[in-house]
Formats: sequence, structure tokens, C-alpha cells
Amino acid sequence: TKCTSNYNLKYGYQIEIDKYTIYDLTKLELKDCTVVQSFSQPKETKMLTCSDCKYAPVDKTYFLPSTYAPALVPTNLPGGGYLTSETVVALNLIASELKKDGVNVYVTSAFRSYQQQLEAFNYWVNRELATGLDLQTARAKANVYSAFPGHSEHQLGTTLDIRCEDCSAFSKDVASNPVYQFLQKHAHEYGFVISYPAGKQHLTGYTYEPWHIRYIGVELATELFNRNYQSSSNNEYLTKFLIEKAMY
Ligand code: DAL
Ligand code: ZN
Repeated sequence: TKCTSNYNLKYGYQIEIDKYTIYDLTKLELKDCTVVQSFSQPKETKMLTCSDCKYAPVDKTYFLPSTYAPALVPTNLPGGGYLTSETVVALNLIASELKKDGVNVYVTSAFRSYQQQLEAFNYWVNRELATGLDLQTARAKANVYSAFPGHSEHQLGTTLDIRCEDCSAFSKDVASNPVYQFLQKHAHEYGFVISYPAGKQHLTGYTYEPWHIRYIGVELATELFNRNYQSSSNNEYLTKFLIEKAMY
């Protein structure tokens, strides 16, 4: 309401205070404007109340309270980060197996607190805004690859983004990537699931992330694998499976 002039404006959005920060480039002034537009998160969201949410569906509907944070230990792998101890054990088994083929794994991102996810989401929204999109479009666009705070599996401490040390982060070139090749075939043998397989955005809400894996234990991961959950021609996916299991 305070920004009615026709300035040449550069703007960023801060989700936590629901505010645009607007700079007038001609006068180098900073102006604060209250956002009148509201953003459509999924209409119906449900807060999880589990004390250990290891088996909880965390997606665009189900979210973790901002205070949720499990006990964590360091991954002890290049890239660092923290995860639950059983996730670290399983992850290091994968790392040892790949090392036999001369592949060093690198942890791109492991546990992210609610606050860190908020900053990550903000970052991507601002990147989208910088391309000239309006706020609602920028948030919707960011939200197909970055989760809203509380809605990220990274807050579980059982989920990480992984790659090979010499590969670029977030490359979708699966054919030439030994880590992604390995995960597609063997992640379940170590208790991991690829949360966002290719061609399932209409179900998971997210584009293909061959690097994003979540630990749910060998038994459950194998059961889901045997349902052929990575195929784009069925409607099997992780959070649907976890809701059905109701172990949270
Ligand atoms: N990139 C995934 C969706 C996340 O932000 O948790
Ligand atoms: Zn991820």
C-alpha cells in the first residue's frame, strides 16, 4: 500500500514476514511494502504430531512442526552434514560399496532445520522473482523443486541429497552418473527410497530428483521397490505408501 509510484523497482520476497523488500534503483532507496497477494499452499495441510517422524509422510499436505528436529550425528563423508545415526550407518555402507568402483560420494545437503528450509525456499523464490515473475508464479515455480518450510523431508534427518564428488550438484544426467545409477538399482537394499522419481510430479508434487533419498529401513524400502515405484506408469510413490502403512 506504500508503493504506488511508478519507480524502476527491484524486489525480493521474505516469506517469514510475508513482505516484499523493494529497492528503487533510480534513487537507491529501500521501500517496504506489505504484500496484499496471498499464496496458495495446498488448500488442506495437516500438521504431523509424531515424536519420531521417521515413517511419516512429509509432502505438500503433511508438514512437520517448526520445532521438529531429531537427534543427529555427522555423516563423516565429504560434504559433511548431519543425519540420524541409523541413516549415517546405511549411507556409509553405500559409500563403501561405491568406493570399490572408485566412486567417491559427496553429501550435497543433509538435515535442514525448518529455519534453513525457509531460507532455502526464500532463496529460490527470489531467484524466480529476479526473472521477472510475479510472486505467486515465482512461489509456485520454486515449489516444484524446493519444499515449503515444514514440508521438506530434509527436516526428518533421514533424507539427503547425494552425488559423486566429481559430478555437478543437481545434474539430471542419470545415464552418465554412477551414483544415480547405483541408487536406482540398489538404494532399497540399504533402506533408501528415491522420493521423487521421474515422471511422477503429478503425484509427488516435485520434479525428478535422482539425488534425493530418504531412509525408511530395508524392509519397507524393498517392499516399495517391489511395487516398481520408480516407474512412471503406475501411481506408487513414497508418501502414499507411508500413509497406507500408518506407522507414524
Ligand atoms: N528439494 C526437495 C523437494 C526439498 O526441498 O525438500
Ligand atoms: Zn533433497
